[in-house]
Amino acid sequence: MSTPDVRAFTVGPVQENCYIVRANAGATSALIVDPGDEPERLLGAVDALGVQVDAILLTHCHFDHIGAVAPVARATGAPVYCPQIERPVLADVMRWVPPGFGPFESYEAEHTLAGGERLNLAGVDVEVVFTPGHSPGHITYAVPGALLSGDVLFQGSVGRVDLPGGDWATLERSIEGLLTAFPADTIVYPGHMGVTTLGRERDSNPFLSELRQRVPRAAAVDAAPTPR
Ligand SMILES: [Fe+2]
Repeated sequence: MSTPDVRAFTVGPVQENCYIVRANAGATSALIVDPGDEPERLLGAVDALGVQVDAILLTHCHFDHIGAVAPVARATGAPVYCPQIERPVLADVMRWVPPGFGPFESYEAEHTLAGGERLNLAGVDVEVVFTPGHSPGHITYAVPGALLSGDVLFQGSVGRVDLPGGDWATLERSIEGLLTAFPADTIVYPGHMGVTTLGRERDSNPFLSELRQRVPRAAAVDAAPTPR
């Protein structure tokens, strides 16, 4: 299966990356990953692409990733897939939102995911990988050739671990799991900042210096990230 077409939309005051994913640029159905804010803009993009939204996937339930779930789900009729452990957060959003942000609408997710599931949604094969550490239920979505990795790994940085349920050793293990399970040229579409690859972060991310000594460098030449 070829690498899907992925469009990034940076939304809201925390500059979160929401992604619209299609099996290819001509596909008529799509997935939305982490609709964090600006629902009108995201729905406008869906209209402009002329796609039906088959599913809304959430990597984790920090407010900046879920602020637009309810309005986008209502407008598209798409079911929401939420990390199992964090479903109560989505169901009571404002309880967890720091002062000065929101208001955001709560939502009861149609489906929960724990990791290990394999889905085919909008014609895209999706492998669900449990990647806790930044948040307790955090999930990474692996699609052919790419990861939609929320707040696990960033270009030159990693997800913060000082929020409730965060833990550095756990996050480091999650990143190590991704580095060993997927090829170095796997594109990483993160929840904040720019697109990168697993290989680039493995080799140069300053937060992964200890991990680098444990994960051997692959022989293959790393591909450059695809700018979008
Ligand atoms: Fe987060």
